[in-house]
Amino acid sequence: MTDNNRVYIFDTTLRDGEQAPGFALNVEEKVEIAHQLARLGVDVIEAGFPISSPGDFLACQRIAREVHGPVITALARAVPQDIDAVWNSIKDAERSQIHIVLSVSDIHIEKKGLGTRQQVLEKGIAAVEYARQFCDFVEYSPEDAGRADRAYLYETVEAMIEAGATVINVPDTTGYTLPHEFGGMIGDLMRHVRNVGNAIVSVHCHNDLGLAVANSLAAIDNGARRVECTINGIGERAGNASLEELVMILRTREKLLGLHTGVNTRLLAPTSQLVQARTGMHVQANKAIVGANAFAHASGIHQDGVLKDKLTYEIMRPEDVGVADTRIVLSPRSGRHAFRHRLQELGYALADDAFARAWEAFLVLADKKKEVTDRDLQALVADEARTVPERFNLELVQVSCGTSGRPSATVRLHDSERPDRILEDAAIGDGPVDAVCNAIARLVDMPTELVDFTVRAVTGGLDAMGEASVRVRHEDRIFSGHGADTDIIVASAKAYCSALNKVAAERPAVSLPAGSGV
Ligand code: KIV
Ligand code: ZN
Repeated sequence: MTDNNRVYIFDTTLRDGEQAPGFALNVEEKVEIAHQLARLGVDVIEAGFPISSPGDFLACQRIAREVHGPVITALARAVPQDIDAVWNSIKDAERSQIHIVLSVSDIHIEKKGLGTRQQVLEKGIAAVEYARQFCDFVEYSPEDAGRADRAYLYETVEAMIEAGATVINVPDTTGYTLPHEFGGMIGDLMRHVRNVGNAIVSVHCHNDLGLAVANSLAAIDNGARRVECTINGIGERAGNASLEELVMILRTREKLLGLHTGVNTRLLAPTSQLVQARTGMHVQANKAIVGANAFAHASGIHQDGVLKDKLTYEIMRPEDVGVADTRIVLSPRSGRHAFRHRLQELGYALADDAFARAWEAFLVLADKKKEVTDRDLQALVADEARTVPERFNLELVQVSCGTSGRPSATVRLHDSERPDRILEDAAIGDGPVDAVCNAIARLVDMPTELVDFTVRAVTGGLDAMGEASVRVRHEDRIFSGHGADTDIIVASAKAYCSALNKVAAERPAVSLPAGSGV
């Protein structure tokens, strides 16, 4: 860290973000998101918590080996097994860092039965020294620092730097502090800790009181130069500080703050879209920076002002955060080359097979829809960039519904493992989507429970594409699926199939129930 006006962005979407209730990204999805984070220009990617599961270990290992640019780190508790798992998973990265967490507040120390303050201190020192045998870069997070005794916190920080920690990350784990309080704490830490100049000071704020971004900013104002944050602010409980908000605050108010990041802000919206599609967790329309209404002017007075001069009501340009252009961008006549070029401009790098599928889907869409916008392209790409083999492919959906009679659906699937059989069945349901899901469930012998279903219009207009997200539970694990189509029933069926394909990818060959299929 040589530029004191640079704020370094540590992205923890794949670790703290993935801890959000009901989330489960598979290994391919984590690698895909990590590549996108590298393109976005974050400085550090926290890839996971490798001791927690073999899948997380593998994801950390693949990210370390395949993703270039950012420092790759992963989380360990202050015990050798955790540290070994982190090091073994990330040691092949261009630059790696071990991240250790251990409580510092009396509430945690007492209620978790961690012993005395002195014992906790010694455990932390031992962990840092152990980690430094492997890696030159070790981050230490005194958990629940926001509620800790200040003198003990500063003693801990000094001891960890002495032991070899190169980054001190101060977490407001419970999102309890207020901006002036948290900022003051960082300022005091800068003044009172003798050796603080030997480490990077970072912060990690949770959003329980809606103050994660404000607290991070107050810390930056008091000298912190690294912030931990997540795309769309996802994370434990109410989440973490939102990366896109922090980055755009620093950019929009650069004259006042005199600070900058290395993030390519034009990739913020596409990255947000990708994380929404993969997690099945959509942001609210009024979410700052990346919400559907973040740049929409509804009132007459505002519209009038914006038409005269955008400066009247716009402090950022939508294109600077990569918000999709709502003009017609492409037609089939533009050709494959222009299509690929536009996708690249939108921040997508598709492998050849995904690109071929996206092109075919684009031709179908362009046939149905008068205007194909960038936002349509984003939804379409999220659909086609598959992260698991597509075992079940939707061939036909037909529904009957209305004001009288029970909704019913007929569905036909192609099963790549049994291409000789036609899977077709019908079912009734409480609504057309329910009927479709029931029919699909009858065809695939995988007990799943639908835990979440959302559908939304991608753009305005009667011919808008619908984007559906589902999350299903299978044997205590959650799998998400995404589908896009001009017909919302088809989009829903695709989303359900994509979740089932993820279940199938993690299971040995699935047997069909007797009598199903024709
Ligand atoms: O919230 C927290 O304290 C954490 C640490 C691991 C930094 O997530
Ligand atoms: Zn956290």
